Amino acid sequence: MALPNQVSPPQIALSSAAPTGVLGADAVAVPLLTGDEGPTLGPGAAELLDEIDLDVFALLEHHKATGKTGEVVEHPVLSREGLTNDGLRSVLFVGVGQGSPVDLRRAGAALARRTKNKETVATSLAALSDDAGLRALVEGLVLGSFGFHRRSEGAKEQPVNRVVLAGVSDAPERQQALERALALAGAGWMARTLALVPANEKNPAWMAERAMEIAESSGLKVRVWDEKQLAAEGFGGIVGVGQGSANPPRLIRLDYTPRGARRNTPHVVLVGKGITFDTGGLSIKPAEAMMNMKRDMTGGGVVLAVMCALADVDCPVRVTGLVPAAENAVSGSAIRPGDVVRHYGGRTSEVRNTDAEGRLVMADALAYAVSEVKPDVLVDVATLTGAMKVALGQRTGGFFSTDEALADLIATAGAAAGEPLWRMPLVEDYEERLESKVADADNAAGGPGAITAALFLRHFTGGLPWAHLDIASVGDSPVDAFEWTSGATGFGARALLHWLELREPLAGVTT
Ligand code: BES
Ligand code: ZN
Ligand code: ZN
Repeated sequence: MALPNQVSPPQIALSSAAPTGVLGADAVAVPLLTGDEGPTLGPGAAELLDEIDLDVFALLEHHKATGKTGEVVEHPVLSREGLTNDGLRSVLFVGVGQGSPVDLRRAGAALARRTKNKETVATSLAALSDDAGLRALVEGLVLGSFGFHRRSEGAKEQPVNRVVLAGVSDAPERQQALERALALAGAGWMARTLALVPANEKNPAWMAERAMEIAESSGLKVRVWDEKQLAAEGFGGIVGVGQGSANPPRLIRLDYTPRGARRNTPHVVLVGKGITFDTGGLSIKPAEAMMNMKRDMTGGGVVLAVMCALADVDCPVRVTGLVPAAENAVSGSAIRPGDVVRHYGGRTSEVRNTDAEGRLVMADALAYAVSEVKPDVLVDVATLTGAMKVALGQRTGGFFSTDEALADLIATAGAAAGEPLWRMPLVEDYEERLESKVADADNAAGGPGAITAALFLRHFTGGLPWAHLDIASVGDSPVDAFEWTSGATGFGARALLHWLELREPLAGVTT
């Protein structure tokens, strides 16, 4: 990616040695579990205490350590006498709660934050965990290390360079679990990075260039429509939203075909909202509300990141990724309130609010998918409505689904990935609010905003099983919270990959 001078995630390796046996580590981290009678030391601690002279119980008591998830107690190693590894400088006791995957993901992120600028950390945090725990831990370590900057003198701090997961088998199955976790966490990392690139660098053509790089590196087919092709083929929503900007719109299509695919291999389409900046257009946003709108392409970034990782997670179904990309700008050529756009396939929308632009571009991409890709399932992901933040806050995404089995698959994947998604209802009674005096629908039907937006999109899904992820509120985290770093979260990349790596991602879905 053409992003110079960014920090890189730590390298992560498995070792069957005890953490104290990892030569060259400047820190050793061992788990601390919560227990009924205070915290208990986990694997690796006994070997550590054999080598260093430390009254660990006094230390933990002094810090009032409980072993709760994410708590970290660090202590310097002053004397190197009797150490197997004489590079050791500090020991860390990391709270892992009950040691569940969620605990381990959060503990991994906490450890990553506390070991910034260190060279190598050897940790026994993975020693008690199964594959799910190992994967979660690695996701936490990588994503807790995330950083992004455009500072002339380089990043303020560097992630720990190397993490050795000690005291675990390095058998091929464990190695595979590690590779999967790195692919998933890497997708989260990429989605965050894409969202954080400033809009003076990131326009629709830039998004298309990133897609072409991903196609090249991951062996995907790629097609990009420019503004002339979009107009010629009837993508009126994308053209309309993009017409006010000096940076013209694009539609991006990426295709993944699994190894050994047959004619009847199921096909999924992912659509991601790619608004590279949302001023609101002529229905302009107040300055405060515009501040983070370079991130309004988070859904598109999630789709690109997921497409990039599908081969690495051995996804068994065909996947087509579509990203309608446009800049919603203010200018003399911008779309106006009251304009009517004609979407791909002919359905029309009255643009009563130019700030409800996401659904206009998503509608074209969904209609194109139904008519030209003819998938078995449609899933879209978009920072679509501020209303979602009011409904669910900033720690849980919302989704809608027309299929019960698909809804269960998405909710389960979100929970397993640490990206919780709460199902919202497609209330039929609100359908009448979409009515327009002049067109097939009004793009700003009013409240309840997240639901009417979903109902608007449903008209373009051709009756296919469909899930719509509205990630407006969770695309951004106001603070560092476990594996979420303050700023862009890349929310959705991990959830979608947890779904698409299943052996049967469409199990039970009515296709
Ligand atoms: N991009 C915004 C939604 C959004 C809001 C994303 C806050 C992230 C944080 C979207 O295009 C928008 O402005 N939606 C309007 C729709 C309304 C005008 C019908 C909204 O939600 O207010
Ligand atoms: Zn908007
Ligand atoms: Zn928007």
